[in-house]
Amino acid sequence: MLPLPGFFETGIQMSNALELLKTRASPKAADLVPPGPNEAQLNEILTIAARVPDHGKMVPWRFIVHPHETRAPLVEKLIANFRAGKPNANDAEAEKQRLRFTNSPLIVTVVSKTSPNPKVPDIEQLLSAGAASMNLLNAAHALGFGANWLTGWAAFDKSSKELFGLADNEQIVGFIHIGTAKGEVFQRPRPDLSQIVSKR
Ligand SMILES: Cc1cc2nc3c(=O)[nH]c(=O)nc-3n(C[C@H](O)[C@H](O)[C@H](O)COP(=O)(O)O)c2cc1C
Repeated sequence: MLPLPGFFETGIQMSNALELLKTRASPKAADLVPPGPNEAQLNEILTIAARVPDHGKMVPWRFIVHPHETRAPLVEKLIANFRAGKPNANDAEAEKQRLRFTNSPLIVTVVSKTSPNPKVPDIEQLLSAGAASMNLLNAAHALGFGANWLTGWAAFDKSSKELFGLADNEQIVGFIHIGTAKGEVFQRPRPDLSQIVSKR
């Protein structure tokens, strides 16, 4: 019997998918250079990010896209908030924050939104946002880009609520920096399965 149309092709795609999952690693955000994803690629990345387990179909996350070309005013406000919240921080620290948010070709803020639900505890809604973040990283890698999931003070500072337009039940779970990795991506050691896997 002939294989179903697309069967063999799917097999090939599967082995590629495993290879991609096995090779993904985060470049430093400072090593992300242009080009970043174009509109079509970004759309694909976000579509994949939204394809995650989501108990109760609550869609407990959303994405804010910060293209490089239009990010400067946001970064200025971020730095003003950083200085206001950390009056003892020196110029070098503020500059480090500025570079972090300025340089990456693309940043996607992943926002978790938790709503009371008797069947879906907040932790499950938060985890779904984590899964969306992870899918962003994998999708970016599959398209040949590097991506790094960062948080830092801006994710947790109260001033970010207003700056990013977050509702009371929303929080930032990550800034996903995306671009082309400059040079080799460092492959950090991964946990030894014997240390983290057990059978009972
Ligand atoms: C929720 C979350 C927040 C993180 N925030 C930071 C951060 O603010 N600064 C940092 O240097 N790394 C941060 N990291 C770690 C980076 O993503 C790190 O580069 C990554 O874990 C490297 O592992 P990978 O190569 O498997 O992606 C964070 C990781 C997670 C999961």
